[in-house]
Amino acid sequence: MKQAIENIRQQSILEIENSKDLKELNDIRVKYLGKKGELTSVLRGMGALSAEERPIIGSLVNVVKNELEELISGKEEQFKQEEMNRKLESERIDITLPSKKIKRGSKHPINRTIEEIEDLFVSMGYDVISGPELETDEYCFERLNLPEGHPARDMQDSFYITNKYLLRTQTSAVQARTMIEKGGKEPIRMICTGKTYRREDDATHSHQFNQVEGLVIDKKENNVSLADLKGTLEVFVRKMLGENSELRFRPSYFPFTEPSYEVDVSCFNCGGKGCPLCKKTGWIEILGAGIVHPNVLKMNGYDPELYGGFAFGTGIDRLAMFKYGITDMRYLYGNDYRFLSQFDRKDWFIQTYLIIKMKKSDKSFVIIIIMDLVEKRRG
Ligand code: DAH
Repeated sequence: MKQAIENIRQQSILEIENSKDLKELNDIRVKYLGKKGELTSVLRGMGALSAEERPIIGSLVNVVKNELEELISGKEEQFKQEEMNRKLESERIDITLPSKKIKRGSKHPINRTIEEIEDLFVSMGYDVISGPELETDEYCFERLNLPEGHPARDMQDSFYITNKYLLRTQTSAVQARTMIEKGGKEPIRMICTGKTYRREDDATHSHQFNQVEGLVIDKKENNVSLADLKGTLEVFVRKMLGENSELRFRPSYFPFTEPSYEVDVSCFNCGGKGCPLCKKTGWIEILGAGIVHPNVLKMNGYDPELYGGFAFGTGIDRLAMFKYGITDMRYLYGNDYRFLSQFDRKDWFIQTYLIIKMKKSDKSFVIIIIMDLVEKRRG
């Protein structure tokens, strides 16, 4: 009997050592230690043994059983470890490989321009105020000295939603809102940038566009004058369009200012000599401005005897077009990746390499972009 157990032991150890994988190892476990396994059947045949032999053989079987179980679990561990190593090897990541270039989005040219305007005015002590795009007739027109039936309302073809509500045609509405909010007592120094809407759509107009509005109100004794307006607009325009820009004030008419001016900037394309961009005049009209009309002050809670100031407004889209040499306003709203990706660079890069050139043959502007060339050369 002892010999038979020893034979089973040696045979199974040999098989365990030669096993090649977990499956084979499991078969060996079943073959020797399972319910019908060889070692188990030895235990079962113990009934035939004498009372003295039984415990001896019983404990011998147990010793062998434990030894085999230990060997099997050791081998199992070895297989698992090998499997793990194989996996680690096959799934290894080569961190030295060059990575794919990740394309990051870029700021839209309009947002760039808005941020630049806001930063500039904040640096001059202005508040940045916002107002609703769905505006009432009252704030968009009436409180700005444009009563119902006023001919100047025709200058701005509006999108009316109801008789009372419209999409604001001008950020000037926020002038009235700010004055009302300040309650006719506090001085005001604010700008408002935002979307505006009119019924027009061509290469230089979009039905939706952006404006910036400025309003400065102070006590009469502080003398906010036309000279201040001129100085402020000079800083603004020079920052946006170039340090050499000159301004020209032309008398004009806006219902909310008196006197009113249209402000021209010397053509930044030809330096004032005359070119197709400025229609050979040397000047480009960019702003509306003036001294706040006493009616507007009165209607919005400020006493025109005690308070006064100036206001100005301009289209941001046109500024962005001038700044970046964009020839068609619709590019700004087309979401064309080829257009937008040109702004996927730092500002200095755009300013340095976006060159506007005139093409004599069709008198249109061509943007020559050598950014890509430069990029390639940098590798
Ligand atoms: N709101 C005018 C427009 O949309 C622009 C403007 C002109 C604004 C004169 C002003 C101003 O504040 O004083 O055409």
